[in-house]
Amino acid sequence: MISGAAFAKVNFGLRVGSRRPDGFHPVDGIFQSVNLADRLTLSGADRDTIGTSGGASVLEGQNNLAFKAVAAVREHVGSSQPVAVTLDKSIPYASGLGGGSADAAIALVIAGRFFNVHPDVLANLAPQLGSDVPFCLEGGTARVAGRGETVVRIDPLQGFSLGLVVPPVEVSTPEVFAAWDDLNEPEGLRIPASGLPPSLRSAGELVNDLYPASVAVAPAVDDWRQELESRWARPVMLSGSGPSLFGFFLDRDEAEDAIGIAPKGARLAEAIDLSSVGWVVAD
Ligand code: C5P
Repeated sequence: MISGAAFAKVNFGLRVGSRRPDGFHPVDGIFQSVNLADRLTLSGADRDTIGTSGGASVLEGQNNLAFKAVAAVREHVGSSQPVAVTLDKSIPYASGLGGGSADAAIALVIAGRFFNVHPDVLANLAPQLGSDVPFCLEGGTARVAGRGETVVRIDPLQGFSLGLVVPPVEVSTPEVFAAWDDLNEPEGLRIPASGLPPSLRSAGELVNDLYPASVAVAPAVDDWRQELESRWARPVMLSGSGPSLFGFFLDRDEAEDAIGIAPKGARLAEAIDLSSVGWVVAD
């Protein structure tokens, strides 16, 4: 049995370009792993199963991205060994925190150990599983471009914590990208460099171009952002295609105080620290 933790990501800015012929949009932004993690366990079994440690079967069964990642590694080595995958979720679904991609990345790593596959093979399998999987396989702090497959590690960011709030709506990434096309590719929500922690300022202002499209799909996102900005007295940014929202705070204590005054009813509201890694395996 091999198990491990898969960390969520937040986007410090996400610039988006016109839809490419392959259906994907070019993106550019800083991706950051954070200390909010799902847990995945893999063991040999009599038949393939995927569920939670509480016994519940996981949504979508064998279409689950983590299961697909395991199956891709197994297929690569030509094995027919059935496996049991256990996935305990802490990262909210469809929230812009990359939970499905993080699960797929840890599944690649764990299946790689289980089936004895070289890490280079895992890196090649990652992009076909999902646009954010290559980043999740790398983890830490990185500049991400292309459709997500170009991942360049950059110096770790430090000196701040995040107040993270997931409003009570689920948002589908393909729907948000389609709305962005329909809205004629609007420019996004901005935080000027002067409103950012010092370690982020050199990258200039922070812009998430998907904000107007996320609000078009889920109008509650704008209500939550405005309310958080007023309670926290600072700019609040969207992660990915949303609906996750975050603000920058000096340290964990300040972020916890902010979470204490956030509106009730969020899917998740937590003070979050940055992580220097994207996953951790414990044999
Ligand atoms: O790669 P992933 O499965 O996460 O993408 C889901 C959908 O989101 C894609 O089919 C596409 O519609 C949209 N997408 C996009 N551009 C990206 C990433 C995702 O248009 N860079």
